[in-house]
Amino acid sequence: MLTALFATSASAATKSEPTVTVIPQPVKISVEKGTFPLKPSTPVVLGFDDEKMDCAIDFLNNVVEPMTGSKLKVTGNKPRKGAINIQQDTSLGEEAYRLEVSRKGIDITASSSHGVFYAFQTLRQLFPVELLKSGNAESVEVPAVSIEDEPTLPYRGVLFDVCRHFFTVDQVKEVIDIAAMHKMNRLHWHLTDDQGWRIEIKKYPKLTEIGSVREDSQKVGSPSYAREMEGKPYGPYFYTQDEIRDIVKYAADRFVTVVPEIEMPGHAVAALTAYPELGCTGEQYRVRTIWGISKEVACPGKESTFRFWEDVLAEVIDLFPSEYIHIGGDECPRVAWEKCPACQARIKAEGLQNEDELQSYFNHRIEKFLHEHGRRMIGWDEILKGGVSPTATIMSWRGSKGGIAAAKAGNTVIMTPNTHCYLDYRQGRDVEQEPPFGDYNPKHRIYLPLDKVYELDPYDQLTPDERKYVIGVQGNLWTEHVATPEVAEYMLLPRIVAIAEVGWNYYGKDFDRFIDNMPRMFRLYDVYGYRYATSYWRDNGMSLPQPND
Ligand code: ACM
Ligand code: ZN
Repeated sequence: MLTALFATSASAATKSEPTVTVIPQPVKISVEKGTFPLKPSTPVVLGFDDEKMDCAIDFLNNVVEPMTGSKLKVTGNKPRKGAINIQQDTSLGEEAYRLEVSRKGIDITASSSHGVFYAFQTLRQLFPVELLKSGNAESVEVPAVSIEDEPTLPYRGVLFDVCRHFFTVDQVKEVIDIAAMHKMNRLHWHLTDDQGWRIEIKKYPKLTEIGSVREDSQKVGSPSYAREMEGKPYGPYFYTQDEIRDIVKYAADRFVTVVPEIEMPGHAVAALTAYPELGCTGEQYRVRTIWGISKEVACPGKESTFRFWEDVLAEVIDLFPSEYIHIGGDECPRVAWEKCPACQARIKAEGLQNEDELQSYFNHRIEKFLHEHGRRMIGWDEILKGGVSPTATIMSWRGSKGGIAAAKAGNTVIMTPNTHCYLDYRQGRDVEQEPPFGDYNPKHRIYLPLDKVYELDPYDQLTPDERKYVIGVQGNLWTEHVATPEVAEYMLLPRIVAIAEVGWNYYGKDFDRFIDNMPRMFRLYDVYGYRYATSYWRDNGMSLPQPND
């Protein structure tokens, strides 16, 4: 009774105050009285600088200029009244920040520009959303708040598959913007697969000349069992190395690291089509036109296969500064290896027990190469089979089982279980509106609504000591049935936000609050023209608050 009364009066009391919500939910936030009037003349006082502070300031100005018509000027380094004061506190974590807005000014404290950038991301959510595109506001009233914030997990990612469908440079940049908006800091870029090779490799030009085109595709939106085809070729579609550098820089300017994934030895039919000698039989392969898993995989029996992947990785390492390089490793059938004299000779010569250990042998050699170049290897949880090195990072996708086992064994883990993180699965009950991924049987459409995503628990079944091996969470957008940026936005928003919040503030998870706050983010998406799904509200008979509620 008391609680209910208190809740009612609290919400009545805040009715006249500006509503303040920040997503992901800050670790500590209290709303104070009053507002700070941000004006075109408000100075930015920079109490410290680092090599990416310009990127953070540019972000702020890209938000402020459309509101007031002008950029803020950076002047001086001593905090003062009426300014945005940016001060350093090196005891804070790299991504942490404090943000105090009062009638007297805006004070931001961080240890690096990364934390400052996140303070600005938060600030954008405090600005009146209706002003974000207005262009001539004389004053922007920023509600007074006191925030202390830092992430639970250091790796918070989005996987974007550009193989099943290709997305332009600008469309990839939009996914980066969406990630950064929710304080996510990794783009896992799925660049090669059976259905297309999308990254220019100078030493092997046929990878893109031949491997970036397929003769046909399964029809988008048509369930897999129907086996309907589009009836036309797809491609050539790929990114030049200059375009890749451009995207890597665009991401870095937004504090997002691009983690490239080069799939091996399975999911490599596009590479085998370009260079058939990579396969066990050397027969002419065809870039795969249907979705699913191929039995055609690279041959770890031949030395030339290792030279090929190492040459490719050498160029990848040059393009991507990421410490982590993802080598795939999932869904690699053994049938070709069982029949291949070179693979069988390798098993014998290396004293391996079976084909599982042959894949482990392959992984170990690739990991050694990456280590020699100062990089670390990520692989899908299949790489646990046949023995995994203690230094490999496991990305757990077939549920959390693999990740839990790996963390217990002391391997670093990123949780992206398909039970909670596969954003290609439909999110609403209206099957007419939802891409039919996994729809092998019309009665068993795979269904992953927002509340289920929010239930993601990266620490499930782990002791406090084992938790330190889980470095992150990630949402995966596979694109068999996602062919346009609008559908990509719809599949990401708002489910990626649930994953962002779990990764940012695991200990503060509260689904009811998340659902209450989310409609204010929808207003922000409206400003930027992002499409989003309201399936959760519709499916649960809830009306969505309108802009002025
Ligand atoms: C995967 O979904 N095959 C990683
Ligand atoms: Zn072979």
